[in-house]
Amino acid sequence: MSSQGDGAAEQHPETKLSDNSSTETDATGGAIITVTIGATVPTGFEHTAAEEVKEKIGVDVRISKDRGRIYFPITTDKLFQVHLLRSVDNLFVVVEEYDQYQFKDSKEETLAELQELASKLPWTNALEVWKLNGSLKKRKAHRRGNGNKVKPNSETTDATVADTEQQELPEAAEDQTKPETTPDIEGSKQESEDAAPKAKVLKFRVTCNRAGDKHSFSSNEAARDFGGAVQEFFQWKADMTKFDIEVLLNIHNQEVVIGIALTEESLHKRNISHFGPTTLRPTLCYGMLRLCKPQASDIILDPMCGTGTIPLEGAIEFPSSFYIAGDNNDMAVNRVVNNTRHIQKRRAEMGSVSGLPIDTVRWDLCNLPIKTSSVDIIITDMPFGKRMGSRKKNWDLYPSCLREMARVCRPGSGKAVLLTQDKKCFAKAISRMGGLWRKLHTVWVNVGGLHAGVYLLKRTGAVFGQTPEDVYESRGIVNTHEKGDDKELP
Ligand SMILES: C[S@@+](CC[C@H](N)C(=O)[O-])C[C@H]1O[C@@H](n2cnc3c(N)ncnc32)[C@H](O)[C@@H]1O
Ligand SMILES: *[C@@H]1O[C@H](CO)[C@@H](O)[C@H](O)[C@H]1NC(C)=O
Ligand SMILES: *[C@@H]1O[C@H](CO)[C@@H](O)[C@H](O)[C@H]1NC(C)=O
Ligand SMILES: *[C@@H]1O[C@H](CO)[C@@H](O)[C@H](O)[C@H]1NC(C)=O
Ligand SMILES: *[C@@H]1O[C@H](CO)[C@@H](O)[C@H](O)[C@H]1NC(C)=O
Repeated sequence: MSSQGDGAAEQHPETKLSDNSSTETDATGGAIITVTIGATVPTGFEHTAAEEVKEKIGVDVRISKDRGRIYFPITTDKLFQVHLLRSVDNLFVVVEEYDQYQFKDSKEETLAELQELASKLPWTNALEVWKLNGSLKKRKAHRRGNGNKVKPNSETTDATVADTEQQELPEAAEDQTKPETTPDIEGSKQESEDAAPKAKVLKFRVTCNRAGDKHSFSSNEAARDFGGAVQEFFQWKADMTKFDIEVLLNIHNQEVVIGIALTEESLHKRNISHFGPTTLRPTLCYGMLRLCKPQASDIILDPMCGTGTIPLEGAIEFPSSFYIAGDNNDMAVNRVVNNTRHIQKRRAEMGSVSGLPIDTVRWDLCNLPIKTSSVDIIITDMPFGKRMGSRKKNWDLYPSCLREMARVCRPGSGKAVLLTQDKKCFAKAISRMGGLWRKLHTVWVNVGGLHAGVYLLKRTGAVFGQTPEDVYESRGIVNTHEKGDDKELP
């Protein structure tokens, strides 16, 4: 940490926190100001997230060049609504943004300039919003239990590397937007903290996410030097794990955005208590659900539901449809039941008497105990063939599962939203199913660092049993996928 202790701290934080920039006040007497909110969303679902913001907050969204980020203006009286968005993983308030930041050539000059920047930024409104968000009150003792291992807590991590999901070895780095490191700007002095609770010194950390290959510096260096300057300027105390305030320095090629985090941990784990080996993020599930626009009384099937994240998110967010969750794995089915119970219990505690519109079944998706043409929407996350299943097996599984899905799905109006990383196999399988399914749209997403496709399919009007593709191999022959192999890890 580069704190040369004699640097004059010209401005004391308090003097910068006064709100004088507004004319109105909100109900609580606080001033209403307009700020820009930044949000990280599952990559590929930026437009879906923009749609949600427009619908729920009524403002237009700007989609950053930096994939997986959106920006929109709010007045502070709308702050609480922002936390109710379901597409967003993390939220921050923007301090300043530069579209075309001109980095100096040398590392030294660039870093020196970043240090200077800290004292020149218009912090006031963003800090005001952070204060309004009430973080000090509800501060948790420990954030993610990272210990001293410094990891960006941000979504970017989640979007690219640290997702709980599909698998951990990226086979091809999808885009270079992964945050590399985070700074170790740990304060050197470990004073008896909290000794004087009245004059509490704020603790902070800086997290830098850098993407782009033309930078002379690393994200570590940027965060360290920028963080040092922030510390001197505000006289805050650096603390990587027990911080009150997290300053974000996002650098994507020439785009530089400085922000203050408004979420303490990613919202993407909401509502799930029992995790499986391939648990999807609810934010991604929400995006998939929005793609097929559930309508009242739709029957929605997830025939390979794993932990049940998709149907559970649906049952919570689009509760006028009915969800059937199935899997051929006992553990998975148990987890769905446990997750459902857990949510029901929480709802009961909050005074809600209605149950979730969801049922759980153990089944083999190639032999669904479901009537032909009875389902409106099929939405699922197919085995990727890495952790789950195998590529070889997918060559059998995918065609037979597309066929069985076509059987239960309503001709003419039925839809399917299918996520898979085995794009080759999927493309082949779907190309042979032209009589039953039509591909409308593909969204390319990033799941745990892996490039995957979300395919929106529409069921053709063809009656099942009368097209070449469904007589091509009869049900019950292809579906014999060996027991045990597709099993989830314990
Ligand atoms: C990628 S995982 C689904 C993960 C889920 N979306 C979640 O968030 O936990 C695929 C699931 O397909 C299930 N599966 C594989 N073959 C199946 C089959 N023939 N019938 C039913 N489920 C099957 C696996 O047990 C696994 O749970
Ligand atoms: C707010 O305060 C700053 C400095 O404290 C001053 O420059 C600015 O003009 C003030 N704005 C308003 C709207 O009063
Ligand atoms: C901001 O407020 C939300 C909603 O009350 C809360 O969940 C979140 O933890 C707060 N963020 C910070 C940084 O304190
Ligand atoms: C789901 O999670 C969100 C965000 O944590 C929470 O506000 C909501 O109450 C949860 N819903 C249920 C039904 O548990
Ligand atoms: C589900 O909950 C039961 C009872 O709480 C527990 O015994 C079981 O281990 C849980 N199953 C899974 C798969 O988490």
